[in-house]
Amino acid sequence: MVKFRPMAMNKPLNKKFSDLAETMKPSAIRMLLRVTDTPDIISFGGGLPNPDSFPLDEVREIFEEQLKINGKRMLQYGATEGLKTLNIALAKRMKEKENINCSPDEIIQTTGSQEALYMLGKIFANPGEYVISEAPTYTGTITALRASNIRMIGVPMDHDGMIMEKLRETLKKYPNPRFIYVIPNFQNPTGITMSYERRKELLEIASENDLIILEDDPYGNLRFSGEHIPSLKSMDKEGNVVYLGTFSKVLAPGFRLGYVIASKDVIEKLNLAKQALDLASSTISEYIAEGYVTKGYMERQIPKIVSLYRHKRDLMIESFEKYFPEDVEFTRPNGGMFIWVTKKGANTDKLFTKAMEMKVAYVIGSAFYPDEDNHESMRLNFTYSSDENIIEGVKRLSEVLKRYS
Ligand SMILES: Cc1ncc(COP(=O)(O)O)c(C=O)c1O
Repeated sequence: MVKFRPMAMNKPLNKKFSDLAETMKPSAIRMLLRVTDTPDIISFGGGLPNPDSFPLDEVREIFEEQLKINGKRMLQYGATEGLKTLNIALAKRMKEKENINCSPDEIIQTTGSQEALYMLGKIFANPGEYVISEAPTYTGTITALRASNIRMIGVPMDHDGMIMEKLRETLKKYPNPRFIYVIPNFQNPTGITMSYERRKELLEIASENDLIILEDDPYGNLRFSGEHIPSLKSMDKEGNVVYLGTFSKVLAPGFRLGYVIASKDVIEKLNLAKQALDLASSTISEYIAEGYVTKGYMERQIPKIVSLYRHKRDLMIESFEKYFPEDVEFTRPNGGMFIWVTKKGANTDKLFTKAMEMKVAYVIGSAFYPDEDNHESMRLNFTYSSDENIIEGVKRLSEVLKRYS
């Protein structure tokens, strides 16, 4: 007879993590948020929307109304693809605002775009395969793809976005990427917008090489200056573009609600991937987002957010012009949330310690490069800080740049 012997109670378990878990690192930005979350540090680090941009009264009103009318459905599990009426409202809005033709069943709601990025990696690439992105690019995408052991190959940018000759060269060396990932509007981290000509060429290259493009567009609604440029999705005639949108920057990130617009075969695969991840997005968030779109509150709120952020961008750039040493270069974004600051020969990883001593924080540029070392730049967020802190923070950063680089 086998005797059951209870395990000694206080013996620590020798936990064995998978090879993949052993390679996982916290993202530079998450770590930074922890370090800089103290009141005396002026942080240009996190990519946080300004809380003054949140439509508190509208959310309260919609929540109460939806609870009365749809309460029992709102608190129940929802469909994996998302609330039907929200997908209908979004399809209508995308046609009106972006000239994107899509039916509601070519949309799936996701738990923020972050989940979409993870799932798109899963459905398009096998572990060990590679994709192409701008260099620099969004750290969250680097993290999401790395978690599936997908490699990213970066293509350099200039002030019009990804450089197409460089993309062609990269494709000669790496001919079978699983997709090309781009952030065409007010890119995170550089603030750069891809020109219309580049967008056209990118679509041509994708078509010639039979490639999928992921168009990540969290900031497209936040344009402060310059002309609207059509989205890749609206210019796409062959169904090669998968579009990612989010409510994080036009409603609030706390809802954790984003969406993907793509052909039905892609939506079906995402639906299956999402069933494995979280079954469905938050039904509560979806009901509120639906009210926000259909009542016209979103169209009313966006200009308020734009005017708040335009003011903060202008203030940060004015402060750069006043205080920065002359050899510091910076982008002048027409929208979004970030400015990219570069000083040739500087090492912003090393400068970070000095910046922390001066109580000002940024994100080191090297965090945004998927496959190379580049230490001359830093990303600054202009949307979160108060006006006084923008001026004071730039003064402090100028001192750091003058004294230590
Ligand atoms: C380019 C880009 N993609 C995706 C995301 C993720 O957004 P979400 O809050 O929808 O997950 C962000 C957030 O900052 C972003 O900058």
